Amino acid sequence: MLLIKNIGTLQTPVGSFKHGGEKQGENVKLNNAALLIEGGVIKAITCDGKLPEGADKADQVIDAQGKLVTPGLIDCHTHMVFGGYRQGEIPLKLRGAGYLDILRAGGGILDTVGKTRAATEDELFEKSMGFLNEMLDLGVTTVESKSGYGLDKENELKQLRVNKRLNEAHKIDIVSTFLGAHAIPEEYKGKADEYIDMLCDELLPVIAEEKLADFVDVFCEDSVFDVPQSRKMLQAGQKLGLRARIHADEIEEIGGASLSGEVEAVSAEHLIATGETGMAAMAKGGVIADLLPATSFYLNKTFAPARRMIELGIPVAIASDFNPGSCPSLNLQLAMSMGYIKYRMTPEEVLSAVTINAACSVGMEDKIGTLEEGKQADIVIWDAPDMEMLVYRFGSNLAKTVIKNGEVVKA
Ligand code: NIG
Ligand code: FE
Repeated sequence: MLLIKNIGTLQTPVGSFKHGGEKQGENVKLNNAALLIEGGVIKAITCDGKLPEGADKADQVIDAQGKLVTPGLIDCHTHMVFGGYRQGEIPLKLRGAGYLDILRAGGGILDTVGKTRAATEDELFEKSMGFLNEMLDLGVTTVESKSGYGLDKENELKQLRVNKRLNEAHKIDIVSTFLGAHAIPEEYKGKADEYIDMLCDELLPVIAEEKLADFVDVFCEDSVFDVPQSRKMLQAGQKLGLRARIHADEIEEIGGASLSGEVEAVSAEHLIATGETGMAAMAKGGVIADLLPATSFYLNKTFAPARRMIELGIPVAIASDFNPGSCPSLNLQLAMSMGYIKYRMTPEEVLSAVTINAACSVGMEDKIGTLEEGKQADIVIWDAPDMEMLVYRFGSNLAKTVIKNGEVVKA
């Protein structure tokens, strides 16, 4: 048994459901708290200086020294398995080339596809293990990981197999998403419909059969996949038991957010350019908005209308979008600060965004996302007295102690 005592403030959302509207900012704050953990699960929580029953039997005790304690962070949108890097795009960007200009010219995602196809499964695995180590050090205990840099049968399966191996090998839990519809590969140039058919007919059944992904995703965007193609992809995945998520309105608003409501996707992601119609559809369909502020920063774009979404009752999650092109940072703490400053979300709303709403977005809300008795013991002790300090000190890593499944993985 592990006892964490002398917690200055234990701050957490409560309940295993999406926190939208007023609930977005509802956190419980327990002062002078303690946590008892057994078998990787939270056994008891106390406050006001009391210790849980059985605390004297703990064989491991951590003194939190009056610091802030929250649930482990959940990064619900990443593209972390990829070959090479793309720092060479920076001069093009500075000369004014847009993200889609670079992609249309065969660079961008397609550049990473070449490098990912050229990498072996073991090379991708080792590289991603390094990223996961960095994330754990930042207090991230669960990560969603998308394929989408293979864009053919062999290499999409290779990426998804890496996800599976990462989940087994690393302390961090990995949620796997099939994003074969991330770009149109060179071999299918001008034949996007045929490419979608290939993904639906040849790849999806294998992925479902081998349980290589929990979610299906599509990049619904100008010059990439339009709404009918995206609908087809998501519905084909849903028929085989994969839940839907969608890259929507990242650059242009072409109807992705509306589609997410129509197919009742679990989440719509990016939403930089989303307007009232798309948001109304999301609110109606119960779709989570996975917002990615570090991508807005890196693409020099505006920031998603988070406050309006919260006003409409749409549950907001925040993720890193870590990938080699539009967001080469995996620092979820940095994204949280951007949520505070650029989205004008309160520290409490930000905490729900990276814990319970992110948990709902990856379908794990019964297990993680809050600190409550019976939940998995994924916990961070911060080098901060409160959430205000955490979002204020942007750029620093304030994760002091990280506990994953009841095990101290960063002391
Ligand atoms: O979420 N927009 C599509 N996918 C990623 C970028 C991938 C890349 O540029 O390699 C995103 O921004
Ligand atoms: Fe993305």
